[in-house]
Amino acid sequence: MITIKSPEEIAFMRESCRIVKETLDFVGKNIRAGITTKDVDDMVYRYIVSCGARPSELGYCGYPASSCVSVNEVVVHGIPSDRIIEDGDIVSVDITAEKNGFHGDAARTFLVGNVSEEKRQLVKVTEECFFKAIEGLKAGTPLYDIGYAVQTHAESHGYGVVRALVGHGIGREMHEDPSVPNVGRKGTGMRLKAGMTICIEPMINAGTYKVVFHKDGWTVTTMDGKPSAHYENTVLITDEGVEVLTL
Ligand code: MF3
Ligand code: CO
Ligand code: CO
Repeated sequence: MITIKSPEEIAFMRESCRIVKETLDFVGKNIRAGITTKDVDDMVYRYIVSCGARPSELGYCGYPASSCVSVNEVVVHGIPSDRIIEDGDIVSVDITAEKNGFHGDAARTFLVGNVSEEKRQLVKVTEECFFKAIEGLKAGTPLYDIGYAVQTHAESHGYGVVRALVGHGIGREMHEDPSVPNVGRKGTGMRLKAGMTICIEPMINAGTYKVVFHKDGWTVTTMDGKPSAHYENTVLITDEGVEVLTL
């Protein structure tokens, strides 16, 4: 079901999303080579709780942590563990927070230490894909224009756009309708409406778009072992444009 948020609900969304943004900023300041992905998860847990919110990934469909920490070839849903973050890694951190019954959701891919030019470029283009997607976006825009913008930009750099995972609506539930694919044909799909809140989250691979779902039930990696980047924000659709709630 697609939900349209009232002004009061939008105020709650803003607050949850601000907490998500601040938490990611905090992780960005503190992530470094030598710590484990579990150390990152502890930072996320503590920060979100200190804001009076709940890390809503914890326990979601049995997920065992407060964050997804995905290193290099891990696309998304990396489970925090004893894996040590190394110099030259790119680390995607994807978190959600719930307060007053509403969720915020965002992800960043951090560069740790001396990162190769190839990986830097991948991370940069992945972020650009998000900003291309929100260019001109407003109430009335066909939904699949988002995927068209992401796909066009990523593929112009020779990258693979993950299809097996998509963005989504968000609100009282972490995942609401509609699905927001990162590939698509311009001018198709439902028209966006003012008051919708959606997560736009390009997942871009250096090589093939194909991914592998691991037996732990969560971890998703690239099929060719090449690196992958993820960038996500929660976005409010308005009649004039968009408000990016997690920036
Ligand atoms: N934050 C993720 C998303 O962008 C969802 C994580 S699900 C979890 O949709 F179970 F891993 F937490
Ligand atoms: Co997310
Ligand atoms: Co999301």
